[in-house]
Parts: sequence; structure tokens; C-alpha cells
Amino acid sequence: MEKEYSKISPTAVFCARMRAKQKLPFSKEIVTLIDTKFKDLVEDLPDYGNTLNSKSDFIPFIEGRYHSLNESLSKFDKTFIVEIASGLSPRSLEFSNKKDIIYVETELKGLINMKERILKEIINEKKLNSKNLFFMNINPLERKDMDKLGKFYLEKGKDKKLIIIHEGLLMYFDKNEKRVFRENLKYLFENYSKKGLWLTSDLSRMKKKKNEVLGNENIREKISKVTKREFDYFESEKEAKKFLREGGFTSEILSNEKVISNLIDKKSLQFNKDHILNSSKGYRIWKIGLSN
Ligand SMILES: C[S@@+](CC[C@H](N)C(=O)[O-])C[C@H]1O[C@@H](n2cnc3c(N)ncnc32)[C@H](O)[C@@H]1O
Repeated sequence: MEKEYSKISPTAVFCARMRAKQKLPFSKEIVTLIDTKFKDLVEDLPDYGNTLNSKSDFIPFIEGRYHSLNESLSKFDKTFIVEIASGLSPRSLEFSNKKDIIYVETELKGLINMKERILKEIINEKKLNSKNLFFMNINPLERKDMDKLGKFYLEKGKDKKLIIIHEGLLMYFDKNEKRVFRENLKYLFENYSKKGLWLTSDLSRMKKKKNEVLGNENIREKISKVTKREFDYFESEKEAKKFLREGGFTSEILSNEKVISNLIDKKSLQFNKDHILNSSKGYRIWKIGLSN
């Protein structure tokens, strides 16, 4: 099982390189380490096309979703954050220093072991506080891993709000795997924290309509060759909401207009504002919880 899913892991390197291109916090340090000290452990995409060189006159998807999820997470106090399939994302370094937050990074075994070593290098170098940061080998498609997570939550964080997050994951799962994922999160919440929350942008990106133009930094075909999987999206918001409702969840889509407008100002992209705000709907955060 691990082996099959580890074919998806090189996409974590792609995301890390895209964040470094956009100069997100700690992303340069992560990429430098994977290109030097950890080079022999890293499985990268063999072909990036022009994605790393192309000039961005918009807010790229990977950057936009990162900021949108951070903004949504920042609205909660006293949290026990579990990031599923965190890849090489630097989010935990931004959050685990904050007050009253426990942050659990989870990934497939090979990647989480390397991630822990990479982040520890940065933590030591920058003298960050990592006392509330944990790493776990978790496959969210395995029921037993939900118990592992749930028990850890009861041990370390039960006075805190359990929040499960992920980005860039569900599109690699087919519809059946998405159902298993949903059932497992339901099991986790029902057994360990009924008020737990699930936040993700992964349900915002819909299947492209025929003739719809792909963005500049799109290399889906090249990625599919590596993962040996087709990208799988819902057709519409309605279909995604139905999927959640049928699984016993309610959902609300949060606006990211403010955070993206701030980024547009910061990056002097006002000339492209309407287009950017329109495409930012593709990475709005869904706030999901158990139905009563
Ligand atoms: C596109 S990357 C996204 C990584 C990270 N969220 C980010 O935004 O950079 C997809 C990640 O999903 C992970 N993944 C795929 N299948 C998984 C599974 N069954 N369990 C845990 N992680 C999985 C891969 O290892 C990979 O790191």
C-alpha cells in the first residue's frame, strides 16, 4: 500500500520548488537542503517543463492555497492541528511557534522521516522552538492510522480543538479512495472529537470543462506519468457538497478574497486583479464538520 502511494511523493518536491519560487517562508531553506544534504533521498519529478522559469503575473495555485489555508487556521485559538500529507510544506514552522498550538505533521513513512530531518536542520539553524511539533507516519486511507492519531490527540491535546488539514491530496485519489478518506475522518471525529474540524482547499478545484485553458504553471500530464494516476476532481461544488453530506458532514466555503487581495497589493499585481480573484475561487477553503 505504502509503495503504491509513494509514487505520488515526488509531487511534494514540485510543490516545494513552486513555493521557493514564490519565496514563501522557509521554502528556500527546504529546497536548498533537498538539493544538497538530502539529495540522495529525494525523488524529484524528472521534467518540470517551463514551470520553474516562467514569470508569474498572477498568484500561483500552490501559493494561493497555502495562504488561504493559513488565514483560515489563524481564526482559531488553542488548536491541535494535524496536517495530512504535508509533503515538504513549511507551514508547521510558521504555526508551531505560536501560542497554544500543537502541530502534527503526517505523511507516508519515507517522506515523513526525511521531512523531520530537514525541518530539524532549519529549527536548529534558526533556533526555533519545536516543542509543540510532532511527526507521524500516517496513511489516511488506513483505519488503524485514525486510531493512532486519535489516541495521540487524547494524550496531548484534548483541551484543544482538533483540526485536520490537507492540500494537494484529494485530486490524486480516485472516487473510491476519496470515500475511504471521508469515512476514516468521520470515524476519527466520531470516536475522538465530535467537534473536530476539517479544513481543505482540495474540494474547490473542479474538473476543467472541455476547451478550458490550463494555467501557465500546469504540468498535470508530466505529473500523471510519474504518479501513474489520473487527476480526479469533482464536476461541481454541488457534487462535492453532496459527497460530504452523504458521508455525514456539513460544509461551508470560506471567502479568501481578503487574503488574496492583500497578496495582490503586496506583489503589485493590481493590473491582473479581476483574473486573480476569479481564479482564487479554485482554492477557497472548505470548513467541514460532522452533521448533528
Ligand atoms: C502534491 S503533494 C502535496 C504535499 C503538500 N501538502 C504540499 O502542499 O506541498 C501530495 C502528497 O500526498 C502524499 N500522499 C499521497 N498518498 C498518500 C497517502 N495514501 N497517505 C499519505 N500521504 C499520501 C504524497 O507523499 C505527497 O507528499
